[in-house]
Amino acid sequence: MKHLLKMLDLSTEEIIEILDLADQLKYELKHGIPHPHLKGKSLGMIFQKASTRTRVSFETGMYQLGGHPLFLSANDLQIGRGEPVQDTARVLSRYLDGIMIRTFEQKEVEDLAEYGSIPIINGLTDFCHPCQILADLMTIREFKSSFDGLKMCFIGDGNNMANSLIVGCLKVGMSVSIACPNDYQPDQEVLDFAAQYGDKFQMTDKPLEAAKDADVVITDVWASMGQEGEAEKRKKAFHGYQINDEVMAQAHDDAMVLHCLPAHREEEITTKVFEAHANEIFEEAENRLHAQKAVMVKLMA
Ligand code: CP
Ligand code: NVA
Repeated sequence: MKHLLKMLDLSTEEIIEILDLADQLKYELKHGIPHPHLKGKSLGMIFQKASTRTRVSFETGMYQLGGHPLFLSANDLQIGRGEPVQDTARVLSRYLDGIMIRTFEQKEVEDLAEYGSIPIINGLTDFCHPCQILADLMTIREFKSSFDGLKMCFIGDGNNMANSLIVGCLKVGMSVSIACPNDYQPDQEVLDFAAQYGDKFQMTDKPLEAAKDADVVITDVWASMGQEGEAEKRKKAFHGYQINDEVMAQAHDDAMVLHCLPAHREEEITTKVFEAHANEIFEEAENRLHAQKAVMVKLMA
């Protein structure tokens, strides 16, 4: 494993190794056991979009590992004035030990990896959000003990979260059901991947059908970063694609609810369901820290 560009690149064994290391690092942090695996190393963090969790968890995680994080806003980098990503990659590779990037196009992340010579970590693109899914899998295993026999249901936009959840959950052995409006389905590359799993993958446009017997119910915003101009159109298209009591009544009684955050209450999830599952959702947010530390150790130590 040289980079973390998308869940499609990871083997099941690599995912499980990251989750095991994340559990260990979480234990060490909670018990005051130092773990300076990245002493003397620097991580550049390029942000072309806003962030609360990704920025703070990478920055703090790098500090806890003994390394040095640099926040690089695209507005301040020459990349924001048109310097090619190929050149940025070759320059930054001479100063840094790793780069985390949050941007729009997946190709930009793939290009950084191709032209640079240091590990690249995808901190979200329009196509996927692998760091989030590693934290989600960590949280599911923490609450449910294992992935065996579990069904994950995603309701909403077939966006970066849906793309990564489909791949990640199928790879660890879970069943997956997705409810998206017909015009907002997951990426074709992801659907082609999922097709190999036969009955373990199901897609519908009916949220209640998708939620049937689910163990984990997940949603995400109706309009992602960069889609603000489509917000009104999307509000109409996604009406009814909400995690609410009716949806939860279809799922198993002990079903978990996850949300990558930020959440729009009364849009993709009701306040009632959100608050009833707040312990799971905020553990998920915490686990970004531990899962990303594991990724950085795997790639940069
Ligand atoms: N879930 C997530 O990636 O949050 P941020 O946008 O705050 O980083
Ligand atoms: N789908 C959302 C996820 C945010 C963490 C977005 O891309 O804005």
